[in-house]
Amino acid sequence: MQVREITEAEVKAFKKRGWTYLPHLFDREIAERLHARALELERDKKHHTFYGGKVNSFFRSYPGEDQKSPLVKFMFSPAMGRNSARLLGIPQVRLFSTGGYLLKMPEEAKEQGETAYHQDFLGNPMDRSTFLTVWVALHDIPVAGGTMRFYDRSHRLGVLGQAFADHMDIRVRYRLKNKDLSPPLAMQAGDATVHHSLTVHGAPPNRTANQRWGLAYIYMDADARYDGTPNVFTENIKLERDALFDHPAFPLIPTE
Ligand SMILES: [Fe+2]
Repeated sequence: MQVREITEAEVKAFKKRGWTYLPHLFDREIAERLHARALELERDKKHHTFYGGKVNSFFRSYPGEDQKSPLVKFMFSPAMGRNSARLLGIPQVRLFSTGGYLLKMPEEAKEQGETAYHQDFLGNPMDRSTFLTVWVALHDIPVAGGTMRFYDRSHRLGVLGQAFADHMDIRVRYRLKNKDLSPPLAMQAGDATVHHSLTVHGAPPNRTANQRWGLAYIYMDADARYDGTPNVFTENIKLERDALFDHPAFPLIPTE
């Protein structure tokens, strides 16, 4: 089996805290293949500003796969269709994109440091917050590798603003409490975290001597509409403002 069914306890944890850790969500083999592909992309340095701007100080980003690639077949699986719909409490999801590979270099390299705390809702062009980000570990990552941390229940705080634009420290501005910050995670290849679009999250620097590779992508409500914001995933697609994401680039994910 390539993708496991998430448990009712995991769904409950997600709804309560706004995120959850899903050990062994994907077979290790899926992660290993993605990792090999990521290392291939890394050799072509021109791709490393996929998201651009301040995000480059958090990680280097490389474009994800074509939807037809066997490497990302798991994203279209009914198991993930069911998992994502259950987490969001809606009948069905669409894939927003196959996402991107994210590389955080060791802190020593002085290329990337901490990933500033933020909500994914800002910068994505959906008209509603019912979407989630899946972050897949592409290899075993120890606690010191800079895996993500999340503020429990922060998805209930509303939209807190574009933290990257004005260097606002969202934790200070909104007085987020240390006790609500999730513990650092050690992840194995194929483990994933999922977080709600409004969940405040960030990551410490990668304090190991090795690269840290993840793959992040988004499932959104099948009924979400395009809010007109320019975005790397919609720039070559003619979508009217307020239209459904009814385009092959944003496929509905079956649940059966
Ligand atoms: Fe994020």
